[in-house]
Amino acid sequence: MTQLPGLLDTEAIRKDFPVLDRLVHDGKKLVYLDNAATSQKPRQVLDALSEYYERYNANVHRGVHVLAEEATALYEGARDKVAEFVNAPSRDEVIFTKNASESLNLVANMLGWADEPYRVDHETEIVITEMEHHSNIVPWQLLAQRTGAKLKWFGLTDDGRLDLSNIDEIITEKTKIVSFVLVSNILGTVNPVEAIVRRAQEVGALVCIDASQAAPHMPLDVQALQADFVAFTGHKMCGPTGIGVLWGRQELLEDLPPFLGGGEMIETVSMHSSTYAPAPHKFEAGTPPIAQAVGLGAAIDYLNSIGMDKILAHEHALTEYAVKRLGEVPDLRIIGPTTAEDRGAAISFTLGDIHPHDVGQVLDEQGIAVRVGHHCARPVCLRYGIPATTRASFYLYSTPTEIDALVDGLEHVRNFFG
Ligand code: ALA
Repeated sequence: MTQLPGLLDTEAIRKDFPVLDRLVHDGKKLVYLDNAATSQKPRQVLDALSEYYERYNANVHRGVHVLAEEATALYEGARDKVAEFVNAPSRDEVIFTKNASESLNLVANMLGWADEPYRVDHETEIVITEMEHHSNIVPWQLLAQRTGAKLKWFGLTDDGRLDLSNIDEIITEKTKIVSFVLVSNILGTVNPVEAIVRRAQEVGALVCIDASQAAPHMPLDVQALQADFVAFTGHKMCGPTGIGVLWGRQELLEDLPPFLGGGEMIETVSMHSSTYAPAPHKFEAGTPPIAQAVGLGAAIDYLNSIGMDKILAHEHALTEYAVKRLGEVPDLRIIGPTTAEDRGAAISFTLGDIHPHDVGQVLDEQGIAVRVGHHCARPVCLRYGIPATTRASFYLYSTPTEIDALVDGLEHVRNFFG
C-alpha cells in the first residue's frame, strides 16, 4: 500500500466502521468516496444511539422521573461537547437544529424579524458568494424577496477561489450580513475568512459562516474565526442525520427574536402573548432531536480520540496524492484549486465529454461510490460552463489504495466510452 507522510492508521480506524466492510455489486469491495455528502458512522456512535434508546429514552426538560432527568443530562451533555469542540465561550451559544440548512434558515429568519440595529429591509444589503451550497443561497434569496433587501455576491476566479478584488464595493455601509462557506463542498476551496471578516467588521455587518465541510475535517474555533454565527451538521462528522448546530454570539442570541414557536422555547404563555426562554432554548421549539444530539456527542468523542489536527494532516496528504494521481488521467479537468494548499478533501472533476452521471454509474459498477451532479451548488457549474461534475471526497478512513482504485476506475470509464 502507498505510504504517505501524515497518514492515520486507517487499518485500525476502518475496524470501527462496519459499513466499510461491505461488498457491493456481486462481491466488489466498497470504495466509499462520497464523504462530503455524508460520512460513515463508527461503532461507538451506533452503540451510543442504541444505548440511548435501550436505557434512557424520555423527553427532555419536562419530566421529574429518572429517565427524563438522565435523558436531559445526556442531551445537555452533548451541548457541552459541541461547545468545547468549537471553542465556544458559552454552552448557551450552541443551538441544536436538524441540519446546517435549518441553522442557516434560522439566522436568515432571526434577521428578517429583528428590530434595529439588526433588521434587514429594503435599504440594506445581504452578501453571499457564488460558491455557496443552495442552503446558503436560497434562505437569503427568500429574505431579500420578503424584505426588499438587495442580494449581492462575490464571484469566482478561474482557479476556483473567491474573487475578492472588489471587496469594498461588495461589502458596503449598507451590508447587514455577510454569509459564506468556509470550505466549498464542490470546489474544495478553503476561503480566506480573515479578509472577509475584517471588511465586514469595518462596516458593522454581521458574519455567518457555513462550516458544514470544515467541522468534520479540521479544528474549528469560533472565537478565532471572529464570526457572529457558525453553522454545521452532524451527519458529515460521523454523527447521525437529523442533528445540526448553530453557534451564535451570546448577545446576539439574547437580542434576536425566535423563529419557530412552540413548547420548550417559552417562559410563560397566555392567550394574549408569550415570553421566551433564554437562548439556546428560545431557538429550540418542540421536542428536540435528543438521540441525534447524543449521537453527535459520541461522534465528537470519537473525532477527539483521533485528533482533529491529525485528521486534517491525513486528509491533506490524501488530497495531495489524489490531485497528483487524477492529474495523470487523460482528459480529466479538476474544477477547483489544483494544489493541495488551501483546499479540502472534496475534488470535483470532469472527464472529457463523458457525462458525470455516466462516470458515476460505471464507477459504481466497480464498487466505487462518488457523487455526481451539481452538488447543490448549481451556480458553480454555471460559472464554469459545465452541467455537472463527478466528485470524490475523502475522510479519516480513506486510503491511498482507494484513490488508486478511483484512478483505475476512471481508466475503465474511458475505455468503456471509447
Ligand atoms: N451537501 C452535501 C453534498 O455536498 C449533501 O453532497
